[in-house]
Amino acid sequence: MDMLVTPIQRNLKFHLPKNTVSQWNSAGVHVSQFFNTMSLFFPEGERFFINSVRHYRDRIMEPELLAAVRAFIGQEAMHGREHDEYNQAMINAGFPVDKMEAQVTSLLNLIRENSPPAFQLAITIALEHLTAILADTLLANPELLDKSDPNFTALWTWHALEETEHKAVAYDVFEKVIGTSVQSYLLRTGTLVLATSIFFALCYTYYFQILRTSNEHRNLRGWWQSFKYQWLKPGAMRKAIPAWLDYFRPGFHPWDQDNRGYLQQIDALIEKVNTFTPAKEQAA
Ligand SMILES: [Fe+2]
Ligand SMILES: [Fe+2]
Repeated sequence: MDMLVTPIQRNLKFHLPKNTVSQWNSAGVHVSQFFNTMSLFFPEGERFFINSVRHYRDRIMEPELLAAVRAFIGQEAMHGREHDEYNQAMINAGFPVDKMEAQVTSLLNLIRENSPPAFQLAITIALEHLTAILADTLLANPELLDKSDPNFTALWTWHALEETEHKAVAYDVFEKVIGTSVQSYLLRTGTLVLATSIFFALCYTYYFQILRTSNEHRNLRGWWQSFKYQWLKPGAMRKAIPAWLDYFRPGFHPWDQDNRGYLQQIDALIEKVNTFTPAKEQAA
């Protein structure tokens, strides 16, 4: 498979404003906290992805794929760093995100210590698929971040763009080292069901706990706004369902859905991010 896109590692600093973390999205606190809940999974999750791909690095001979793997690792490391700062803002604001992250770490360590590397790589490509289709939804529907805080918007857009850029890297490694047999098919689709179920069970549990921390769990209007946002209009999650199902098609490849066009936004985004300064934190 010819590589359509070679990812590039970018070192960007988003200088998120610290005092608006629970209401940075214009659709309200409940929507902001939904994104914030997703954020808490990234640093540990991405370290897991890096390890599971790195395990197979020696078995990749193609220089193109090796370069892509290197960039994939670099990008995920940068995402982890920026989301660590993001999550720290949540902790500072009094949300028990550190405890949740520790639980995610224990779960991932359990998988690391008790399952074969092929299973770990399958979990990685499953979660990369999930990330890539949610990224596509975010990029295809700019109204999801419309009129929201510029720093948070830029961070989520950057993450979505780079997830798009590297969406096939771990997948190509999987096809190379695990193959495309019926067994590999069952492994990759089975782990998608497993990873999606565990992820959303945890995600919605933590989401509720975070909203309860600030007593927002009693706010029915907020719940309705968030439900609408995720499942009705714009329907961020609903819109990702067909792409999720596409993974079950034998012969599926992430670039079958060619959404490279979004990557043209990267240069303008970098320019914007470079104007962000830490001063905003102090002035805010
Ligand atoms: Fe990432
Ligand atoms: Fe990724």
